[in-house]
Amino acid sequence: MTSHVRTAIFPVAGLGTRFLPATKATPKELLPVLDTPLIQYAIDEARDAGVERMIFVSHPAKQAIERHVMDDARLRATLTARGKEDLAEELAEHALCPVQDDVVFVMQEEPLGLGHAVLCARDHALPGPVAVLLPDDLILGPPGALSEMIAAYDPDSAGHMVATMEVAAEDTRKYGILSVTGRDGRRLIADGMVEKPSPTDAPSRDAVVGRYVLDHSIFEALATQAPGAGGEIQLTDAIARGVSRVGLVGFRYSGRRFDCGSKVGMLAATLELASHDPDCAALLREMGLSTDAPRAA
Ligand code: UTP
Repeated sequence: MTSHVRTAIFPVAGLGTRFLPATKATPKELLPVLDTPLIQYAIDEARDAGVERMIFVSHPAKQAIERHVMDDARLRATLTARGKEDLAEELAEHALCPVQDDVVFVMQEEPLGLGHAVLCARDHALPGPVAVLLPDDLILGPPGALSEMIAAYDPDSAGHMVATMEVAAEDTRKYGILSVTGRDGRRLIADGMVEKPSPTDAPSRDAVVGRYVLDHSIFEALATQAPGAGGEIQLTDAIARGVSRVGLVGFRYSGRRFDCGSKVGMLAATLELASHDPDCAALLREMGLSTDAPRAA
């Protein structure tokens, strides 16, 4: 059995109800932080981590995601003909190419939960552990959170690895919280997790966020997983069931995470990226906001 992470799964079939009405016609994963859609940050992170195959679990009503993700030779040709070669090259650099890249789109016809979305990728996953990236959790590096996780992944000690961050006690009820039994640098040894506990019931303040490296057995666990909270097939339930057999660690990534599934998180991410962008510096200064971009000469 290989321990090499060759597959990245991007579940992008959800309804995005927290961000309505913006997500009524535009997929949440295409909402931009500055000028770049959320899905692009996740793709770039997975690419940097060296995965071979990318599987997008999408929905028939969200075809715009495929149009964004895949190369558009006609658009590039138009840009080039209009003297905008730089823009054409930039698009080509970030797009996935059906010839050079190993890309699969599968449809989740109904949003039956994150766990169900991951299960939809089963027939296309390469052997070995798989990475799962939730694009609405934007984690700004460098280094990329997935690269850090893969470097720290050791299936002999734990087959399931989840990204974690420390949250305030009053926020434990918003996250899956790890039951931590030991700490080893950025790795948190865990014997389970509790879904959205109250501060008094929370076993730790180490919350699970949207990056996972999962033992391949996760697919078998998901296939037999009963619906959980909200009647959905929950990924966390299937991970928890595998803990005694394959083990579980949390990983404290070093980047900064933004919950871009909510308007406050999206605004925070936008301000963070804008504060480093010379194009935004004058506006931010005018608004009394901080920026570290140099003043124009
Ligand atoms: P969320 O838990 O944020 O759900 O999904 P959501 O439906 O997108 O948004 P809200 O909570 O209603 O506002 C996290 C990721 O999992 C995907 C979403 O597209 C998102 O990228 N997902 C969720 C699926 O692919 N299928 C599902 O059934 C549920």
